[in-house]
Amino acid sequence: MNFKNYEELALEFPSRINFLLGLNGSGKTNLLEAIYYLSTTKSFSNSSDTQNIRYGADYFFIRGFFTNTNKRSEVFCQIQSGRKKVFQENSRDYEKISDHIGKYPVVLISPLDVDLVKESSEARRKFFDQMIAQIDHSYLNALLEYHHALKQRNALLKLFAENNSIDYDIIDLYDQQMARSGGVIYQKRKAFVAEFLPIFNASYNLLVDNREEATLAYASELESAEFEAGLKSSIKKDLILQRTTFGVHRDDYVFGFAHGELKRLGSQGQQKSFLVAIKLAQVEVIKSHLGFSPILLLDDIFDKLDDTRIARLLRIISGADYGQSFITDAGPERTQAMVNELEIDCDIFSVEKGSIQFSSIK
Ligand SMILES: Nc1ncnc2c1ncn2[C@@H]1O[C@H](COP(=O)(O)OP(=O)(O)O)[C@@H](O)[C@H]1O
Ligand SMILES: [Mg+2]
Repeated sequence: MNFKNYEELALEFPSRINFLLGLNGSGKTNLLEAIYYLSTTKSFSNSSDTQNIRYGADYFFIRGFFTNTNKRSEVFCQIQSGRKKVFQENSRDYEKISDHIGKYPVVLISPLDVDLVKESSEARRKFFDQMIAQIDHSYLNALLEYHHALKQRNALLKLFAENNSIDYDIIDLYDQQMARSGGVIYQKRKAFVAEFLPIFNASYNLLVDNREEATLAYASELESAEFEAGLKSSIKKDLILQRTTFGVHRDDYVFGFAHGELKRLGSQGQQKSFLVAIKLAQVEVIKSHLGFSPILLLDDIFDKLDDTRIARLLRIISGADYGQSFITDAGPERTQAMVNELEIDCDIFSVEKGSIQFSSIK
């Protein structure tokens, strides 16, 4: 209700594979976003919750019913400007909304993924952080603790510069806090990449049919320095720059393919294939940790992937070991042809200016 361009909408998706077809601007991505919200408690396009309220309205709510084997749960989210966010499971509030993360996992494949290749290390850290947090709650806690300590340490560095005096004892305290939570983060990131890499390679090979190679590496300053020693040795620089220049908040994940660095040398299609493979690997990781498949949201995947890879992707996700998928496309004929050719058992919906109809054409 009142979510983006949807004034009111109620839909059921009994089938495993669901196509959402409609012109640009009709609301396909917005529907995926509503599902994403119920899973992650957040939007993927807006950083502010209230921006998702339909223009002119002052609140939105989304209610979703999730069924996993025989268990049915209700997830409800309401945002009203000036009010606290409401987020409930089976009509009960959470003590911390972040406790919801990982209970109804989704994996989103979207045109925005390209930011993971193009943007700074922050985008990659955020993506991997979310992925690890979905399967490991203690990681999320370490992250929150680390960022809290980092913020305090940076504030101190500013204060020392303003006052022209330095209290090394207080800095020491924050160094210890950062080293403790940061050490956990480093170990968990490292272990995660070691686990993720073979799964990613398998997904990539499945998608590109072994024609190309890809690499993914974790890069951290912690590889070559112990945490507290690293902080101590950069303190002079930190005091000048008034921020902390050593730590896991500077980590990166380096993407490479057969010809070198993906960011510089990969074509749009190669970058897209790499990113889709990462997301398919994310599905596998969630499956192996949580014991069930996440919901897969595929937004405009037909862009930038060639037909052979799209066909491969559709075959992979319609396999019996995959969960429910929602796939958007602006070109109905293309989807129709793929669905017929691959004989995919699915439901097709047509989306038109904030309303969605079950489509009989198939
Ligand atoms: N807060 C909002 N209130 C009302 N309409 C919105 C809001 N945010 C986005 N929209 C509208 O949603 C439409 C885009 O929907 P989207 O799901 O991105 O379309 P597409 O089918 O191309 O994926 C645009 O027409 C945009 O104006
Ligand atoms: Mg869209």
